[in-house]
Order: sequence, then C-alpha cells, then structure tokens
Amino acid sequence: MYVCVCKGVTDHQIRQQVSDGARSWREVREATGCATQCGKCACYAKSLTKEALQEARMDADMGLAYAV
Ligand code: FES
Repeated sequence: MYVCVCKGVTDHQIRQQVSDGARSWREVREATGCATQCGKCACYAKSLTKEALQEARMDADMGLAYAV
C-alpha cells in the first residue's frame, strides 16, 4: 500500500528499510524520501516506522533479527 503518494513509498519499503538496518524515522525518511514533499504522510509513516522498529526489537530480543 502506498504510504507516500508524492514519493511513491509503500509500507513494504518502510518495513524493508528497518529490516535493512534503519533505526529511526529520520533514517527511513532519508533513505526513502518519504514525507519530504507535502508531508501529509508523515504521521502515518512515522507510526508505521515505530511499529516496525518495535517488531525488530522484539525479534532481536528473541535472537531472530541479528543471527549471522
Ligand atoms: Fe508523502 Fe506528500 S504524501 S510527501
């Protein structure tokens, strides 16, 4: 689903950024360009990023995210 229409950013891309190592909304925004134009998507994109970060932390706590 598109979260940011201006930059064509999807929820999958935001989750993928977190999965690839982004650890803040700022990092996700810089990597995707999300919320850098009209800004109407910022609130939802931030909450989606927060949710993805919480999931990543839970996975890390269970030893799933950073296993090599
Ligand atoms: Fe994301 Fe406009 S919808 S910047």
